[in-house]
Amino acid sequence: MKTGFLTGICLFMALLQGICQQKIDPDAIRQKMQWFADAKLGIFIHEGIYSVDGIDESWSFHNKKISHADYMKQLKGFTLSKYEPAYWADLIRETGARYAVITTKHHDGVAMYDTEMNELSILKATPARRDMIKPFFEELRKRDIKCGAYFSLIDWTEPDYPGFLKDSAKYKIEDDYDRWNKFRKFFQGQINEISTQFNPDLWWFDGDWEHSAEQWESEKIRQVILAKNPNAIINGRLQGYGDYETPEQNFPVTRPKFNWWELCMTTNDNWGFHHDENWKTPYEVITIFVDVVSNGGNLLLDFGPREDGTIPDEQVTVLKELGRWNKKHGEAIFNTIGGIPQGHFYGPTTLSKDSTNLYLFLHGQVEGTIMVKGLVNKIEEITVLGNGTKLAHKVVGKISWSHVPGLVYIDIPGDVQDKYVTVLKLKLNKPVRLYRGQGGFN
Ligand code: GLC
Repeated sequence: MKTGFLTGICLFMALLQGICQQKIDPDAIRQKMQWFADAKLGIFIHEGIYSVDGIDESWSFHNKKISHADYMKQLKGFTLSKYEPAYWADLIRETGARYAVITTKHHDGVAMYDTEMNELSILKATPARRDMIKPFFEELRKRDIKCGAYFSLIDWTEPDYPGFLKDSAKYKIEDDYDRWNKFRKFFQGQINEISTQFNPDLWWFDGDWEHSAEQWESEKIRQVILAKNPNAIINGRLQGYGDYETPEQNFPVTRPKFNWWELCMTTNDNWGFHHDENWKTPYEVITIFVDVVSNGGNLLLDFGPREDGTIPDEQVTVLKELGRWNKKHGEAIFNTIGGIPQGHFYGPTTLSKDSTNLYLFLHGQVEGTIMVKGLVNKIEEITVLGNGTKLAHKVVGKISWSHVPGLVYIDIPGDVQDKYVTVLKLKLNKPVRLYRGQGGFN
C-alpha cells in the first residue's frame, strides 16, 4: 500500500518534471525551431469571403466601412471555382519558401475548412462547398513544404464572443462567465478540429490582444497543441505562450534581440485580395527580404487570391522574381545565420553556419569599390554568387605592429551585377573574427 503510494508520488514527480522540462528546456526548443530558423522565407495566404468585394479582411465591418450584414452577403459570391491547390503549392515552391501559412479562420469567423462547431464555413455557407485547407496542405506536404495554420482567436461574428459586432451585444466577461465559457468551448473546439484534421507544423494565432492569457487559456491551448504534435511551432500571438515574435509590416532598424522572429508583410498594402495597386516591386521585396535575413529573421510574404482562387498577376510576378533571385543566391540565404554587426560593411550580410563564409549583399547597380572594416580574418577567395567570377581585394592601412586589421577594398566590375541584389561570398581562413575597437592604440 505504502509502496504503491510512493510509486504514485514518484510517477507524479516525474510527470511534473517532464512537463516543466518541456516548457523550459532550451535545447529542445532550439531543436524544434531549427527548421524555422533555416527556412528564412514563408508564404502567407489570406483567402476569405472578403475577396468577393475586394475589401479589408474582417476589419471593414469592424471599422464600419460596411455593415456586418452587407459584409456577410459576400458568402454568396465565394466560389473557389478555379482553385488549384497544386498550382499554389508549385508557386510557393518556386519562391524557395520552406513553409506556408494559410487562413483557416479570420476575425470574421468564416471557417475555411469543415467545422462542426457552427454553420459558418465555406462548405456550408458558400457556393464553394469545399474545404480549402486539406487539399492545400496535401500539396504542400508532397513538396516538402511545412504547413502553417493561421487562426483568429477573435471571432467578431460568433454571438457568444464579447466583442460581437463591437457594440450592441457587447458584454463583460466578469458579468457573464457562462457565456464566455461557451465561446471558449467553441473556439478551442475549432483548434482541436484543425489539429486533428490537418496536424499543422506551425500555428499562426492572431487577435490575442483583445483578451488576457488567462481568459483565452493560452497555456492550456499550447499544451493541447503540443500534446498532439510536440514539434508544432506556435507564433507569438498567444499572450506570452508562443515560440517566436511576429513584427507586422514595420521593419526593424536595429537588430531585434529575439531568438526567432518573422516579419509578416503584404505585397501591396492589404492582406487579402483588394482594389489596391500599391504593389511592392521585386527589387523592394528582395531588398527587404535580405535585410530581414541579415538581421536573423524570417520573412512571411503574403498574397491574397481572388474569390475564385486565382492569384493577381502582380503577385505572381513578385513571387517568381523572388524565386529566380533565390535560386541564384540561395547559398547566402537558406541555412545561414544573421550577419556581422552593422558598421563593418554598409549593407546587409549573412554568415554560413560555421562562420567561415561571409556574404555581402550589394543593393542595386553597384559598380566601383566597396569596403569592409574590422575583419581580422584573411580572405581566401571572393566569388560573385551565381556568376562564378572571382574578385581581387586589397588590404589598406594594415600596420605591422598593430592588432587593428586594415580595411578591405574590393573592386566590383559592372558586368557581374544581378538585376536586383548582387552577392559576394568571402571565404575566410577561419570562423569570422571582428575588431570592434575605436582605432588608434585600442
Ligand atoms: C493583423 C490583422 C489581420 C491580419 C494579420 C496578419 O493582426 O488583424 O487582419 O490578418 O495582421 O498579420
